[in-house]
Amino acid sequence: MSETFLFERLKTVSWQARELPKPIAIDELPTPALILDQAAMERNLEAMSRHVSAHHKGARPHAKTHKCVLIAQAQLRHGAVGICAAKVGEAAALILGGVDRVLITSPVTSPGKVQVLAELAKRASELLLVVDSSAGLELLCTYLPGDVRLGLVLDVDVEMGRTGARDADVAKRIVETARRDPRFWFAGVQHYAGHLQHIAGFDERKKRSLESWEKALHFARAACDALPPIVSGGGSGTYAIDVDVTAITDLQVGSYLFMDREYRDIESAHAKVFNEFEVSLTVACTAISAPLASLGAVSVNGGFKAFASDSGVPVPYDGAPGKFRFAGDEHGVFRVGEGAACPALGSVLRFVVPHCDPTVNLHDWYWVLEPDGLIRSVWPITARGMTW
Ligand SMILES: Cc1ncc(COP(=O)(O)O)c(C=O)c1O
Repeated sequence: MSETFLFERLKTVSWQARELPKPIAIDELPTPALILDQAAMERNLEAMSRHVSAHHKGARPHAKTHKCVLIAQAQLRHGAVGICAAKVGEAAALILGGVDRVLITSPVTSPGKVQVLAELAKRASELLLVVDSSAGLELLCTYLPGDVRLGLVLDVDVEMGRTGARDADVAKRIVETARRDPRFWFAGVQHYAGHLQHIAGFDERKKRSLESWEKALHFARAACDALPPIVSGGGSGTYAIDVDVTAITDLQVGSYLFMDREYRDIESAHAKVFNEFEVSLTVACTAISAPLASLGAVSVNGGFKAFASDSGVPVPYDGAPGKFRFAGDEHGVFRVGEGAACPALGSVLRFVVPHCDPTVNLHDWYWVLEPDGLIRSVWPITARGMTW
């Protein structure tokens, strides 16, 4: 089946770091280039690890953000209880790279994916999959071989309307099958309220998230009497809120690792901006033309193919005033702030990305920036394109 073809191809892709022939500085990068500030990322990992431990919770970070085996390994070193993958393909990239505790957070409804799941379950020490429908459950029952064990996680939707069960009978059937069929175990409950993560005001976000969890847990308890070992969900926008929900065991945080412009713009518990994590991801572009020099603008070599454009525009990393606008697939135009000098052609400009996950999916590598300002290696974005 076609998924097996994709899986076989993935086996030939390297996930390991590659050393550059010699260290390079940022202005020597082949732009547009995705830069990972390794020290800032490490501080974000430590901060999240401290936060969840202080609240007696776990982190199950979402690899949909970074799509990189090396970063997933770093998250596990910082105490993550497992790693989330959005899809079977993303899980395959992680598991082939040796990440062996994976929760797939989207349901599966096609036989080809179950075939790959069976392969992955044999390689992982713990493979978990969300289920939210009778069709999905029946498909697993039909196609999963007898020598495989898969942990089932009941996905619960309250009001987002993307994935998750809302029907109590369906939820009960999922739980009963997971408990009865020897190929499965009933591992957990998932609730992810993505539509709440970017609510600008912290108090409003807190109220809505706590209400959402209350409803989700009420629904889950009705389906299974006693909650299973894992209650997983939430994201970076509610990371400081959801730890107050006693039943939650772990947080599926993703973007905290990089911090994009969209997240920086919302309030945190104590500040008007979300500054509890650092920006560790930027895209470097080069000024290549200046037909609008008289207006204080230069054209740079990054456009829709360098930045995801679903959530507004990039902003300068150094905080300088000025405005970026997309000028097509390969180009952007950056207009400097009042009184500032226009960057010379050939100069390299770094931008905070509007939305990290889909931006990462546009690049092959992270150029890993070390504290001395040099780049010595690239880390492959192995699960790039693994949207299946
Ligand atoms: C199911 C699920 N869990 C967790 C996350 C992580 O969210 P964030 O990047 O806001 O931390 C996402 C992101 O879309 C998600 O879809």
